[in-house]
Amino acid sequence: MKDQDISKLEQKFQEKIDNDIKIEPRDWMPDDYRQTLIRQISQHAHSEVVGMLPEGNWITRAPNLRRKAVLLAKVQDEAGHGLYLYSAVETLGANREQTIDDLHSGIAKYSSIFNYPTLSWADMGAIGWLVDGAAIMNQVPLCRCSYGPYARAMVRICKEESFHQRQGFEIMTTLMKGTVQQKKMAQDALDRFWWPSLMMFGPNDEDSKHTAKSINWKIKRHTNDELRQMFVDATVPQAELIGLKIPDKDLVWNKERGHYDFGEINWDEFWQVVKGNGPCNNHRIETRKKAKENGLWVIEAANAYEQKRKIKKVS
Ligand SMILES: [Fe+2]
Ligand SMILES: [Fe+2]
Repeated sequence: MKDQDISKLEQKFQEKIDNDIKIEPRDWMPDDYRQTLIRQISQHAHSEVVGMLPEGNWITRAPNLRRKAVLLAKVQDEAGHGLYLYSAVETLGANREQTIDDLHSGIAKYSSIFNYPTLSWADMGAIGWLVDGAAIMNQVPLCRCSYGPYARAMVRICKEESFHQRQGFEIMTTLMKGTVQQKKMAQDALDRFWWPSLMMFGPNDEDSKHTAKSINWKIKRHTNDELRQMFVDATVPQAELIGLKIPDKDLVWNKERGHYDFGEINWDEFWQVVKGNGPCNNHRIETRKKAKENGLWVIEAANAYEQKRKIKKVS
């Protein structure tokens, strides 16, 4: 294609972005835009699927039938989120199996939060309340993302995430009305999950190499630090309401800014977990690999069936 033609296409693309017209799979898009989306959406899909593991760990030990049914539904929702997102990635021309292989070989990343262990039932509360709460902060603006299939997938996902957040907060509220041991358990879960939840928004803005580009393309609508601040402002009053203490001695309401000030995140810990050295990284990836190996026969059977169908059609 001539340079002139490309610049015309680029201009048309930019006009759509500027006028908030969605980019659809068959539309021309710059290669960089496509690659950025493939990276972001596949990482998002991996996070949904790996995110099933820490909570799946507690399905058999939920304290009663109601709790078990709710947790089971939540974990199934996450599988559904993974499916929508892998489908969205395929609309960009990416190969789904390849993206999954990249996860298994460590090339592709997923949310660092899922590399922390779930040690008690209260962790189910903390994860729903904080991790799904942080996910909502991140994902509600993605409903207005410039890429159509991603934006549309996010609408349903966000509705379900909001149920996840509420069920988590309800677990915490119930524990905080319970015995001294139950209150302790809830506080301990908050102590362990608070900082990793803040890390979910990614590096500070000055250290985030992807943010500016994504904002220009209207893939992202807010920076990492803006979203983190929104999360802290929304969550601190919820903790106070049920009598939990946020584990941050620097946390204070800043009247002038109209926001909470909070302490420095341990970025060494964040990067260690991202690089694969978190408490559960190996375990998570090994579990996903085993799931693929154990499910291979389903793929083979489906392919064989499809082959047979095609042969019948031709003859
Ligand atoms: Fe999800
Ligand atoms: Fe969720």
